[in-house]
Amino acid sequence: MAEQFLADVVEGLTRDPKSVPSKYFYDRRGSELFERICELDEYYLTRTELSILSRHGRDMADAIGPGCLLIEPGSGSARKVRLLLKHLRDPVGYVPVDISTEHLSRWAARLGEDFPGLYIEPVAGDFCADFHVPRVPGVKRRVVFFPGSTIGNFTPSEATAWLGRMARLTGSGGGLLIGVDLKKDARILEAAYNDSRGVTRDFNMNLLVRLRRELGADVEPDRFEHHAFYNDAEGRIEMHLVSSERQTIRLDHTEVELERGETIHTENSYKFDLDQFRFMAAAAGWRRCAYWTDDERLFSVQYFEVA
Ligand code: TRP
Repeated sequence: MAEQFLADVVEGLTRDPKSVPSKYFYDRRGSELFERICELDEYYLTRTELSILSRHGRDMADAIGPGCLLIEPGSGSARKVRLLLKHLRDPVGYVPVDISTEHLSRWAARLGEDFPGLYIEPVAGDFCADFHVPRVPGVKRRVVFFPGSTIGNFTPSEATAWLGRMARLTGSGGGLLIGVDLKKDARILEAAYNDSRGVTRDFNMNLLVRLRRELGADVEPDRFEHHAFYNDAEGRIEMHLVSSERQTIRLDHTEVELERGETIHTENSYKFDLDQFRFMAAAAGWRRCAYWTDDERLFSVQYFEVA
């Protein structure tokens, strides 16, 4: 694990422009900070998606139909899926997939208490890679539930490839219920990733803290600043760590030089138009059956079936 982490960081920091894969945000502290981001006023995404799920959960359950096996990549605390499960007709089972195994069993057990009789089979794994889905008898339809606009954290080509894998995983009759953040005024977008309390800043900086602690890197987080902005041409929020001065990071046997103002790119969060996302999913073998938004059209939840 630490070896892979080191190899990925060295690879990213010796590239031009410099970057670090965003999956390394989520150690224990990173996950806690992320939970706090979701509670922020400026971070409209979580609250808006929850309200769409509460308001239209019944229609979503109707679209999915009876007897489904629900698969949730990156399930975390499995909070959102409850709003769906309570309306689903005779679901056959729920398969949360998460990289953090301690989280997985704890949250799966809690969910089991609230939905007695629901078959739950947690799968430990990285949802970016191939993961195993158990064969459960009596399943009419496999449905992937992927909320949070996590799809926007992939590049467009990664996203299309991932959507294609999910189409093959669910097979004929398969479904996909996915949360997708929408394009909007850049000021609203930028506020969401530059909150006034600096939680997103701490979240971004935590990457450097991990480099120090876990990889023994000689790097001083105070010499960097958090920078997040909307890149209109690419249709994405970009998050960077900006070097406040000319400096050298040393890790393992590598020295990484940074100019003053040079950045390490840490995350993208793509924003979509409704049509744009439909086309992207269509290229991966999905046909859109329905979608739901809030009244201001900030966020969407979309339902697709394998074409
Ligand atoms: N998918 C969410 C988003 O893009 C969550 C997320 C991923 C996020 N990385 C982040 C939120 C970094 C804030 C900062 O918004």
